Amino acid sequence: MSNTTPTSRISGFHKLTIQERLNKVAEFCHLDDESRQQLARPGNLDPELADRLIENTIGTLSIPVGIATNMKIDQDDVLIPMATEESSVVAAVCNAARQCYDNGGFTTSMSGSLMIAQVQLVGAQDPSACRLKILEKKAEIKALCNACDPLLVQLGGGLHDIDVRVIHAVSEPMVVVHLIVDVRDAMGANAVNSMAEALAPHIESWTGGRVYLRILSNLADQRLARARATWSCDAIGGPEVRDGIISAFHFAEADPYRATTHNKGIMNGVTAVVLATGNDTRAVESGAHAYASLTGTYRSLTQWEIAENGDLAGSIEIPMAVGLIGGATKLHPTARACLEILGVTTADRLAQIIAAVGLAQNFSALKALATTGIQKGHMTLHSQNIAMMAGAVGSEIDRLAQRLIDRQAVRLDVAEQELELLRKQ
Ligand code: MEV
Repeated sequence: MSNTTPTSRISGFHKLTIQERLNKVAEFCHLDDESRQQLARPGNLDPELADRLIENTIGTLSIPVGIATNMKIDQDDVLIPMATEESSVVAAVCNAARQCYDNGGFTTSMSGSLMIAQVQLVGAQDPSACRLKILEKKAEIKALCNACDPLLVQLGGGLHDIDVRVIHAVSEPMVVVHLIVDVRDAMGANAVNSMAEALAPHIESWTGGRVYLRILSNLADQRLARARATWSCDAIGGPEVRDGIISAFHFAEADPYRATTHNKGIMNGVTAVVLATGNDTRAVESGAHAYASLTGTYRSLTQWEIAENGDLAGSIEIPMAVGLIGGATKLHPTARACLEILGVTTADRLAQIIAAVGLAQNFSALKALATTGIQKGHMTLHSQNIAMMAGAVGSEIDRLAQRLIDRQAVRLDVAEQELELLRKQ
């Protein structure tokens, strides 16, 4: 055994095969055989594809894909694949959807499929005049941007509008150009980034300033997915439950500490569908949280109120930059299969479905929190997880999980003791 400290400076790591990289990693941190074999198992993603999707691949990570049932969206029944490691998330959507199915399910809409690219111009002596100079070039800008993506234009997309602002940054005033682009069925990052990069030298020559950043904004506030639904007051347990849900919403509206958790629950549903369809979870998440803060206070992404007939009315409005073409949506075979289950043919429809899932998720969380609390429902699955963590296998898992619930002690230490007893019996 050598005494030298292992180094993370591994030259040419990216040029190695997956197996060779794994060997290097195993050597670096003395991975045992079990971990090494686990990482070498390819799951349902071809290692060659995994190696092309990202850099320095050594393996893949499988996450369960569950199906949310009972969803009726705009009068169509739809099965929704959700990729998540968190128990209760799929069940929550199924339950919420079942409880509003007879009321007509979810009604959805979309504000548009517009994404924004930002171009940052600094060093302009006369920023206000520069702003106008750029606005005067709108037709030229449109031609330059659309020339970057003739296919998008053919499909009815392309540059829709421009907006130019002077912002007062700490260092100096900056001129910020927004290219507002209809990206149709793409997530749109590539399309708008190419346009921003192509436009940059022109903006410099029109203004005499210097362009630094040319990149999309994830605050996709011109690509809002909307969903609403009503739950019969009687079906959800009466006025007390309804009012408890509304009070929980008011709590979130008034307190960012609660709003963060409230919106986390919404994102439990949203992210699971975004991930299952191979879309960019981080883009949707950052957009959602930024949108929730647009008033200057971090607030709820959903609204809850009493409908005219006394039922509970819920709604959600959330930026939803998802696409059907490009990236993992097209390349990852599981994502493709999930899109097939959804039967979506447009990115708008996918976005609207995701918004409905977010609303459903929030309904279930608030209902549980306003009544029995979430731990009761959570415990069945959680107890099984704890049983597996304690080492239970096969039929032991359910038996041990039940013992933990009976003892009202779903804890690892108790699970380990109980497993020992169970094996002795
Ligand atoms: C847990 O993952 C999500 C909840 O905390 C959401 C909420 O509190 O609204 C239950």
